[in-house]
Amino acid sequence: MQQDLAKKAAGEAAAAYIQPGMTIGLGTGSTAYYAIMRIGELVRNGMQLQAVATSAASEELARAQQIPIIPFEQVDSIDLDIDGADEADESLQLIKGGGGALLREKIVAAAAKEMLVIMDASKLVKQLGNFPLPVEIIPFAWELTFRHLEQSGASPVLRRKEGKIFITDNGNYILDCHYGRITAAPELHRQLNDIPGVVENGLFLRYASRLLIGYADGSVRSL
Ligand code: 5RP
Repeated sequence: MQQDLAKKAAGEAAAAYIQPGMTIGLGTGSTAYYAIMRIGELVRNGMQLQAVATSAASEELARAQQIPIIPFEQVDSIDLDIDGADEADESLQLIKGGGGALLREKIVAAAAKEMLVIMDASKLVKQLGNFPLPVEIIPFAWELTFRHLEQSGASPVLRRKEGKIFITDNGNYILDCHYGRITAAPELHRQLNDIPGVVENGLFLRYASRLLIGYADGSVRSL
């Protein structure tokens, strides 16, 4: 499919930013998949590097590709985080969490010197908010947190997968919150993280250093 070709182009282009010896943050999702596969090739061709993963799924994929995964207690710093996005604007503000890994993704992004965002061109938007904002919440009294989020102007939907409540790698739930156009992202970010029960939200406002935008013809634009 056309979108997959664009994701592949962006994911594989990330490899050009990797230097031997780096510690890499491995993102989560179908675009990060292509980056991880390419990084696996680099490793099998002899490049020395190490990585941390933002989800159990990415860790499993990376290990299968022979990418050395190190525990976080051995991490001094992360040189380059490579991750996807659900939406990005031209100021490099992001919505993430469509794959449910936003909390670990944000922890890794915050620890990285640089964050490279890999995405197909459909993810680039004028204003964030068409994609429902994922908010990770603790399961305890989640109905009260739900109501708080409703009061913040969202229409939250408890995420489900195959008919069951979706559980994150951290044992939490996700509420997908549709706000329409998000005009004051920093205020919304603060407001959401102030709600008891909210662990983290999917607004990534000051982490991305560069967007690699892939197209179905295999070309990639850097922003
Ligand atoms: C996972 C994420 C992903 O990066 C985001 O959902 C994009 O996924 P994909 O590359 O599959 O479109 O934030 O939590």
